[in-house]
Amino acid sequence: MRIIINGNRSKGTISKNIYGHFAEHLGRCIYGGLYVGEDSDIPNVNGMRTDVVEALKDLNIPVLRWPGGCFADTYHWQDGIGPKENRKTIVNTNWGGVTEDNSFGTHEFLELCRQLGCEAYISGNVGSGTVQEFSDWVEYCNMGGISPMASKRRENGREEPWNVKYWGIGNEAWGCGGNMRPEFYGDLCRQYSTYLRNYSDDHRIFKIASGANVDDYKWTETVARQAGRFVDALSLHYYTLPSDDWGHKGAATGFTEEEYYSVLRKTLYMKTLVENHANVMRLADPKGRLGLVVDEWGTWYDVEPGTVPGFLYQQNTMRDALVAAINLNIFNDHCDTVVMANIAQTVNVLQAMVLTEGEKMVLTPSYHVFHMYKGHQGAKQLETYAETHLVGTDKDKAPNLHVSASEAKDGTVLLTVANLSGTEASPIEVMWSGIGVRGSVEGTVLTGATGDFNSFDAPETVRPQTMQGICTTADGFSAVLPACSVAAFTIRAEQ
Ligand code: AHR
Repeated sequence: MRIIINGNRSKGTISKNIYGHFAEHLGRCIYGGLYVGEDSDIPNVNGMRTDVVEALKDLNIPVLRWPGGCFADTYHWQDGIGPKENRKTIVNTNWGGVTEDNSFGTHEFLELCRQLGCEAYISGNVGSGTVQEFSDWVEYCNMGGISPMASKRRENGREEPWNVKYWGIGNEAWGCGGNMRPEFYGDLCRQYSTYLRNYSDDHRIFKIASGANVDDYKWTETVARQAGRFVDALSLHYYTLPSDDWGHKGAATGFTEEEYYSVLRKTLYMKTLVENHANVMRLADPKGRLGLVVDEWGTWYDVEPGTVPGFLYQQNTMRDALVAAINLNIFNDHCDTVVMANIAQTVNVLQAMVLTEGEKMVLTPSYHVFHMYKGHQGAKQLETYAETHLVGTDKDKAPNLHVSASEAKDGTVLLTVANLSGTEASPIEVMWSGIGVRGSVEGTVLTGATGDFNSFDAPETVRPQTMQGICTTADGFSAVLPACSVAAFTIRAEQ
């Protein structure tokens, strides 16, 4: 199968924020996953788990979205500041009805971002909050001079503003964020946006309107038309489920061949969604100023047997690695539209990077894909073409290969390829033009049976390995991709 990299054609720079993450007050994502508190026996720095932070730092996470999700539209940020013993205890009504003691609030989230070295993306409460409350939150985080909120921040121990750039104006306003109609939300979005102020010309904020669910193009069209000029981007949420029945989504492990290919086919639908939403946005925004922020994506399965249903805890297999690879390839190739994406969710929830159990931590196959793809962050997208054939079942077919490529500032080209076939290896013959003379080619491959996963007892079942058998030619190379694999090839410029 031939793969061609055309260095003469590019859609532009792949925003590093496409490799963003999402952490909600949901199940064990924040509590137990990212944050254990300063008094925990689990090693931590200012309450953040050292093992998890170190693992995530290695992904170069560019941006982290918080506090939700549905939780965001029930969250009143002032409950989560000040001395912890005085913080209000609330009920997390969206996710299992558990008690939320607000010990992880604004200061803790921004401390986590500091430790990770990433930007913060805060989703404000539009569904059950007020314009004043949201406006005050921005002032609390970003006001450098003297003001009521800046003084409050200083009283709570933080002198300098954090200059939080990314602000989401509600979440899923069409659903858990208020069950609004797009016309109503469009007006509300304008109102909220008006009072989310810039406190420094050097740190202007980036406003993200609550966008559509899957293929709700009417939502995108209406919100872009009514509120587009008051925001910088609209969001999109699309999850991949094995079945179409939210009551019986399908298991994360032990799935059938039908479920394997169903998930891959449905993942490929992301391309159609991104293109259609972009086209619809352009009706209101012909110059293409508005970006698309896919701030929730990933797999959603039935929870692991014996776990709390509202905690959305699921295992993560090679199938999920392919889902990550396909989505990231799609986002890379639509970098002229997709300005940010945030996989749901970072730890212990849905398609997680990391799973924890007490003091134990395991890296998932999806983690390894993000690691193998990190060279795409901030690189120049390059056009690719792949010869493919269809694989799958009678009902669900997909091309066997899925590809993207980019060129970093130092000239290094990264080619990422997924072999979607669960059973067939695929020889590939890669050719390039327009990228100059190349020195070496190295590869890393992640492979296994479709249902292989890492557990606390066997944490290294799925791990990246050096790709063997790469044969270089004058303007390319050949290799063989194992069945069900994700490979990353680094093609270095000649020294
Ligand atoms: O990620 C889990 C939930 O999925 C989020 O809270 C919500 O925005 C979406 O429906």
